[in-house]
Amino acid sequence: MIPSVLPTYSRAPLSFVKGEGSWLIEADGRRFLDLGAGIAVNALGHAHPALVAALTDQAGKLWHVSNLYTIPQQQALADKLVDASFADTVFFTNSGTESCELAVKMARKYWYDKDQPEKTDIITFEGSFHGRSSAGIAAAGSEKMTKGFGPILPGFIHLPWDDMAALEAAITDTVGAILIEPVQGEGGIRPLPDADMKALRTLCDDNDILLILDEVQCGMGRTGRLFAHEWAGITPDIMMVAKGIGGGFPLGAVLATEEAASGMTAGTHGSTYGGNPLACAVGSAVMDIVSDEAFLDGVRARSGHFRQKLEGLVAAHPDIFDSVRGSGLMLGLKCKRTNIDVVKAGYDNLVITVPAADNVIRLLPPLNLSEEEIDEAINRLDRAAQSLT
Ligand SMILES: Cc1ncc(COP(=O)(O)O)c(C=O)c1O
Repeated sequence: MIPSVLPTYSRAPLSFVKGEGSWLIEADGRRFLDLGAGIAVNALGHAHPALVAALTDQAGKLWHVSNLYTIPQQQALADKLVDASFADTVFFTNSGTESCELAVKMARKYWYDKDQPEKTDIITFEGSFHGRSSAGIAAAGSEKMTKGFGPILPGFIHLPWDDMAALEAAITDTVGAILIEPVQGEGGIRPLPDADMKALRTLCDDNDILLILDEVQCGMGRTGRLFAHEWAGITPDIMMVAKGIGGGFPLGAVLATEEAASGMTAGTHGSTYGGNPLACAVGSAVMDIVSDEAFLDGVRARSGHFRQKLEGLVAAHPDIFDSVRGSGLMLGLKCKRTNIDVVKAGYDNLVITVPAADNVIRLLPPLNLSEEEIDEAINRLDRAAQSLT
């Protein structure tokens, strides 16, 4: 008999009942150190006092009104995002995949309105993940994501990861946009080198192509800058955000320049929940903390400490781990043993990590975890590795 919850996930036998900062407490009382943060969602850990205050304060006033009306909390958060980024305008969604839907629509509408309706193709890359909606799976293009769900939304050209020659060869008059994660998450924590990110921007400029960045996983302070593309000193035309922006409350956004967004006029897009008062009150509280330079300095310092310790861990367990990769607190350990076994050994030693492609385990802790918690994480990962030897 089919379970009452549609069985689309392979779930670990863990059931958490409480969260405190970087810790998750299981129903049986065990305390797990959370290096997954809901897959880069709980950017400020669990039950952060400022977020709890923002949520409960707003919950006592007004949860939801339709986007038929002006929503001051939405306006406030949009202003903060515009002030802190390349963007001139923001549309709020509830998830990453909805941000993907809009990014694709925005790019196509842009060229349609510019009397170049043939520029519907969007170049994407092997190993990418942009969500589970029809545009998201078509963008990723892998058999794993698309098999059985045809007909697949047309207009995506799939290229190898980080192969600039293949990219240049794929540019034609029908290409309207390039969509890429500055650091691939599900694909195995693969950062695009800064030089290639710069080259991508130049390629787009030279060929009249919009650059869409998917910062759903790598954005909102995760890499030690508010947005990952800042490391390369470039800006996109359109950017997808979600996960960390709500700190655990479902919220996403598409940020864009005025030019790229020019086709999105009244009636061209909408969302019932997107940007409602409750979500935006929480999002604003997250943004106030995460966009602060001193906070981002701290993320960079902690990530340096973490990375150094992880290098030591790899050196101590050469049969289990191959190498460390990533950017900021978006870190990956490439494993020699099957990554699922390493994640399970972590559970047995009360530390949570997340598997990714390329036999990697992901470490995406709350951005505000302490150095002591990092040291404790290393102890637990060390014990997990020992248990596999
Ligand atoms: C880079 C990236 N884009 C898009 C998504 C989809 O986000 P959501 O699951 O909120 O739809 C994810 C989710 O893991 C992601 O990592």
